[in-house]
Amino acid sequence: MSSADRGIVIAVDGTSGSGKSSTSRGVADRLGLRYLDTGAMYRALTWWMLRHGVDVHDPEAVAARCGEPRIVSGTDPLAPTITVDGEDVAAAIREPDVNAAVSPVSAVPDVRARMVALQRAAIDEARQGPGIVVEGRDIGSVVCPEAPVKVYLSADAGARANRRAAEEGGSDVGATEASLLARDRIDSGRAVSPLVMAEGAVHIDTTAYSLDEVIAQVVALVEQLESIGSGS
Ligand code: DC
Repeated sequence: MSSADRGIVIAVDGTSGSGKSSTSRGVADRLGLRYLDTGAMYRALTWWMLRHGVDVHDPEAVAARCGEPRIVSGTDPLAPTITVDGEDVAAAIREPDVNAAVSPVSAVPDVRARMVALQRAAIDEARQGPGIVVEGRDIGSVVCPEAPVKVYLSADAGARANRRAAEEGGSDVGATEASLLARDRIDSGRAVSPLVMAEGAVHIDTTAYSLDEVIAQVVALVEQLESIGSGS
């Protein structure tokens, strides 16, 4: 099979709470594609580090153990799953202790090398079929720079905090905003694969749009590409 015959990759990067997950899942569902949440993978590894008493602020300690857990992502956009050594951690990885520790763990180069390898394997598998929507921070820049559709989502900090707090069942919006901004700072400032807008990415500021409107904009980008490909 030549690379042109393989399924599409849609890279969706952006800050926490910009609407990446809902948009990516919606686009995958509309287009019949798989879906990979790479943030959940970094969260799962962080959860394992906390459970095993690894000091998440010691990069060498994190690097030494980051190859141990077996992290498996289910890629159905309507029911994504994540397990660590067979244990379902979908809820546990959204807890405040993981929120607070995930950015320093994600900044460790050995962690990124391992996660990127796992992500590329999942992408390769999905490309045997129609393809995959992959969300994260470095998908268009590092994990899959050849993706034909790259989207960078952003939104005002207040809007992001309101959305995230609502998802978390009405938690304190001020505290949620502070936690989002702290993660943005580390994710954008780290030495390896910082959050950046990838070359060729289309920037969508989602502040003023509904979820359906953002999904429609991304689907339109894919359709545009397909109509160029078919010459119509
Ligand atoms: O998307 P999220 O908020 O669940 O991501 C959690 C953290 O994982 C985020 O603060 C940074 C890290 N992350 C990353 O470094 N690279 C990715 N591709 C995805 C997430």
